[in-house]
Amino acid sequence: MKLPRDFYKPLAIGAPAPLRDLPVAPERMIHFLPPHIEKLRAKVPSMVTQVDVLLGNLEDAIPADAKEAARAGFIAVARAVDFGRTGLWTRVNALNSPWFLDDVFEIVAAVGGKLDVVMLPKVEGPWDIHYLDQLLAQLEAKHAVAKPILIHAILETAQGVKNVDQIAAASPRMHGMSLGPADLAASRGMKTTRVGGGHPFYGVLADAAEDGGARTLFQQDPWHYTIARMVDACLANGLRAFYGPFGDFQDEAACEAQFRNAFLLGCTGAWSLHPSQIAIAKRVFSPEVKEVLFAKRILEAMPDGTGAVMIDGKMQDDATWKQAKVIVDLARLVAEKDPDLAQAYGF
Ligand code: GLV
Ligand code: MG
Repeated sequence: MKLPRDFYKPLAIGAPAPLRDLPVAPERMIHFLPPHIEKLRAKVPSMVTQVDVLLGNLEDAIPADAKEAARAGFIAVARAVDFGRTGLWTRVNALNSPWFLDDVFEIVAAVGGKLDVVMLPKVEGPWDIHYLDQLLAQLEAKHAVAKPILIHAILETAQGVKNVDQIAAASPRMHGMSLGPADLAASRGMKTTRVGGGHPFYGVLADAAEDGGARTLFQQDPWHYTIARMVDACLANGLRAFYGPFGDFQDEAACEAQFRNAFLLGCTGAWSLHPSQIAIAKRVFSPEVKEVLFAKRILEAMPDGTGAVMIDGKMQDDATWKQAKVIVDLARLVAEKDPDLAQAYGF
């Protein structure tokens, strides 16, 4: 067992000390950029003002013969653009791929000082995090990177889900996790070709009616269990949980429903793979105005967070004060980035 005292020591001489708390910034959507496509790279300067996190994707969806171009494209865009308060992330190739090592070596060498987070796919257990943790520390030291680069794991294998608690606690470099429903479905042998969302056959059939009338199948969320496990593992360790991709770009209503389930269960944000999903994530992961105004009333009615009061016939106490604080804190964060919401929330 690693000694508690050593947990926050840098893993390489000259590497920055690990952070004790995550940086605070809105992360409602992690927008995926395929960086080998020049036309899309050109849109990044305007994209940066619209998204909370911009991620250069090097892994799945990038063809094998475009892997080097994607890496070079990401480095070029990371160098050229001022990201301000918008997060700059990359999703590197998997640890067992022929590209992982060069992804990490080249990116940290070229733009390590600007990179906030490395997203690591197909994480199976804490050993995967330990390896990248050590490697990043060595590269940070070598290239004099002053701010630690964080790690975000994708939860997308059966083995990873089994080890989710140990993955979350593996390193102070952990930022959080995203659910990867496509790889996870394959890894588990789930019988679906969809990327996230519900399935018409996954449901509960209503009891037979006495008159023999039609019975309704109520669709259930096949991702509920995994999202809840991921949220518990992340939040128990001070990390953030995210819903990953929603593959049907045409079905915006279903995407919104999936994102909203994740938001209500405790997730911070979701991936946007298509520009239309940016607005959906913004809508879903910014707290509702009505909810914020009510939460503010709870905080105002209980200035020290203790006791019990009734507001609009609903009981409030120390616990609901904490629930209200989660919502108001998030609203303040979002308001800093969004003047229209700031006004609606009354800040
Ligand atoms: C994402 O990477 C997924 O596999 O769903
Ligand atoms: Mg995947």
